[in-house]
Amino acid sequence: MQNLRHFPVIALSLTFFSILAFSFSQNQQYNEEKNFEGSSDLVNLEYHMGPVLASSINLYIIWYGRWNAKHQSTIRDFVYSFSSPAQYPSVADWWRTVRLYTDQTGSNITNNINLSGEFYDFKYSHGRYLSRLSMQSVIKNAVTASPGTLPLNYHNGVYLILTSDDVQVQDFCRAVCGFHYFTFPSIVGVTVPYAWIGHSGIQCPGMCAYPFAWPAYSGRPPPRTNGGNNIMSAPNGDVGTDGMISVIAHELAEVSSNPLVNAWYAGDNPIAPTEIADLCLGVYGTGGGGGYVGVVYKDSWGNGYNLNGVKRRKFMVQWVWNPVKRRCFGPNALD
Ligand SMILES: *[C@@H]1O[C@H](CO)[C@@H](O)[C@H](O)[C@H]1NC(C)=O
Ligand SMILES: *[C@@H]1O[C@H](CO)[C@@H](O)[C@H](O)[C@H]1NC(C)=O
Repeated sequence: MQNLRHFPVIALSLTFFSILAFSFSQNQQYNEEKNFEGSSDLVNLEYHMGPVLASSINLYIIWYGRWNAKHQSTIRDFVYSFSSPAQYPSVADWWRTVRLYTDQTGSNITNNINLSGEFYDFKYSHGRYLSRLSMQSVIKNAVTASPGTLPLNYHNGVYLILTSDDVQVQDFCRAVCGFHYFTFPSIVGVTVPYAWIGHSGIQCPGMCAYPFAWPAYSGRPPPRTNGGNNIMSAPNGDVGTDGMISVIAHELAEVSSNPLVNAWYAGDNPIAPTEIADLCLGVYGTGGGGGYVGVVYKDSWGNGYNLNGVKRRKFMVQWVWNPVKRRCFGPNALD
């Protein structure tokens, strides 16, 4: 899986599951870092013969814990933006890069992501501390509990568990911001891909809501939107939620290109694959990498963003690896 650095101060590594992982070190040499924004021969992304998500995805969100309705609607609008037109460069334009990945039958990843159901686990069915494995029990509960049961869709379902800011998750904030994997028949009854992403707002925005927050102990100033003295502010008004948006995009790109962890990844070790979004952590625009987000936009309030969504929403989403151009890419690229 992965052992990836994106800026000099942040090293990401994916362990065991396919996870978005962070660790910090102040004194890394810049030349140890790989900036994948430029084309790189060092990347050995390979196809390992497994499936990609080529059929329309029915996405089911499990809202775990106590969620703010405004934050939920930001996330819903982001999900709607994958398959709906919006001003260029849009979230759907961003997804075009993900669509370049195919399986051995030549089928591309789908362009259709439909939010097909939501489950409100507001009673914290498995407590306020979740292990990685217990995510599968959270899904099991959501497909069996009543009322509000989600269908158990093993044909083209993907389950997205989103935990509220008061929920602790194994390795969250210490090593990971989100991960994707698949369920085991012994727990859920079937094998179905899923992803978890945590709201880092009160726990660790400096680790999981980059570039809207920056770890105080990193010894570096936060990134700015051209000039100003302030940290880049979040386009939808909540650092934790706006930070989650990019992690949701990251995990959706990876679960689609590597749903059973046997399709698209780099590296020799399937236990720690480097996947298509891991290669581009911290890169949001042309020139990004090494602690610089790259060339992005600023809305009329000065908030940073790089993609448009439905309802005139703006989002800040990291780039993914483009297998044709052989570099990190997003629709806001200048070249
Ligand atoms: C499907 O993937 C191939 C290989 O990357 C690419 O050439 C083609 O344009 C893709 N099709 C779509 C609709 O994205
Ligand atoms: C998309 O999801 C909605 C529920 O939100 C459902 O009514 C509709 O049938 C779904 N569309 C497709 C094409 O699956």
